[in-house]
Parts: sequence; C-alpha cells; structure tokens
Amino acid sequence: MKLGVHSLSPSIEAILIQSASMFFGFLLSFVLRSTLDHPPSIIFYVISQAAFAAFLTFLREMDWWWIAIQFLFPVLVPILLIVDISPTYYFCGFVVLTLIYWSIFRTQVPYFPSTSALLPAVLNLLPSDGIVRFVDIGSGLGGLLFRLSAIRKESSFVGIEIAPLPWIISYLRSWFAKSTVRFIFGSYERADLGEYDVVFAYLSPVAMPSLWLKAVAEMKPGALLLSYEFIIPDVEPDLCINIAGKEPFLYVWRI
Ligand SMILES: C[S@@+](CC[C@H](N)C(=O)[O-])C[C@H]1O[C@@H](n2cnc3c(N)ncnc32)[C@H](O)[C@@H]1O
Repeated sequence: MKLGVHSLSPSIEAILIQSASMFFGFLLSFVLRSTLDHPPSIIFYVISQAAFAAFLTFLREMDWWWIAIQFLFPVLVPILLIVDISPTYYFCGFVVLTLIYWSIFRTQVPYFPSTSALLPAVLNLLPSDGIVRFVDIGSGLGGLLFRLSAIRKESSFVGIEIAPLPWIISYLRSWFAKSTVRFIFGSYERADLGEYDVVFAYLSPVAMPSLWLKAVAEMKPGALLLSYEFIIPDVEPDLCINIAGKEPFLYVWRI
C-alpha cells in the first residue's frame, strides 16, 4: 500500500471495490440479457466481475496481493457454494484466522515469521558482555527469541504479541521448554520501550512512522532499534545489514 494515496484502510477499500464490481456484474448481465438473443453463461459474468474488481484495485494502487485477492474472491464464492462444504468448516477456519490475525484491521501487521538467517546478524549486534534486555515487539510464535535466548542465556528476552493464538503458542512453548523467555499479551504501543537495550521489530511499513516516534520518546540513548525488512521513512538507519542473498535487510538505528 502506497502511503498517502489512501484515506481508507485497505480492507474497507477492498469491500467497497467488491460492492462496486458486484453492481457492475448485475448491470452487465442486465444489459446483455436484454440485448442479446444468446447471452453469455454465468461464468462470463463471474469472470467479468472478478476482472473488474482486480482492475479497480490496480487503479487504486493497492499492493499486488490485494489484486489477486480481489480477483479470486468473486470466483471462489460460487465455486465453494457448488462444492457445498459444511458451514462448520468455514466457522472453524474463521475462528482460527481471527485468533491469528486478530487486530490486523487496526495494526495492518499480519503474522509471518522472520527467517532463521537473521540470527547471526542480530547476535552480532548485541553487546558482547553483560545482561542485554531485548524485546521483540510483535513476537509471533517467538522463534527468534527462543533462538537468541539459547545462546545468550544470561540476558533477558521478552516478546509482546497482540494476537491471541500466536501469543498462547509462544507462551506454552516457553512453559514446556522451561525457557526464561517471557511473552506478554497485548500491544507494544502500551509498553515502555525505555526498559530495553534492544528493540526488535518485524512489522509493516504502516507501523514504522509511529514506532519511530515512540522509540525516540522512550528508548534510552545508546539503545538499539532493529527493524527487519521495513525502513522508517525519512530516518537514515545507522546500519543496513544484508542478511543473506535475496533476504530483506536488517536496519539498525542507535538512539
Ligand atoms: C511479521 S510478524 C513477526 C513475528 C516475529 N517477530 C518474527 O520475527 O518471526 C508480526 C507480528 O506482530 C504482531 N503485532 C502486530 N501489531 C502488534 C502490536 N501493536 N503489538 C504487538 N504485536 C503486534 C502480529 O500479530 C504478528 O504476529
């Protein structure tokens, strides 16, 4: 999503586009059925509606995956209706996805894990002696924190996660493994970043401007802010680390 082009959230914009394309589908069907002797089959209208939705999404300069979603949605709805899957499966899918993606409407930060190739780069950035207080804001399933704490046993590792299912999984992983990694359920927006020497973020472009304001207001001088993949607009990082091959960069700001 290009910042500044859109005033609505992408999900609302997507719903409006689907509504407009549904209207387009009805209009097309009305016109063709009343003018042609042999109007096209329902498949033609479904594909036309899907293509129209994808085209509007493209015109709105939304990200490529929105174009794919907007095309597939009108195509999949009739297919899944024909297949006649029990509503229980849809409900279970809905519950699981809600527990994973939770407040994505507000945060616009979905869950996807960072690569394990990140570990050496993050380890190299940690001060080599003494206890380091490290937080992963948006810790997902906690993979990075478990890997770090296995090597830096003396240090303190905390994960803050807003989505219930990833949080409960990471909490249970820590409990079963008798790990010292602590997982807090909630938004990092309510945490005090001044409690940490290193703040790690793997969020989204949308989250970065407000994260920077929070980091500058709360983090102690000399503390490190790390962001995997996403830059902070107009704030030059102190380091850009090439993780491996085509993997995204790790950006580092010293406060
Ligand atoms: C891209 S994933 C990164 C997961 C993990 N840090 C890693 O490196 O594998 C981003 C995570 O941040 C969480 N998240 C998004 N906004 C958040 C917020 N305001 N507070 C806490 N967690 C948040 C999401 O639920 C998601 O699990």
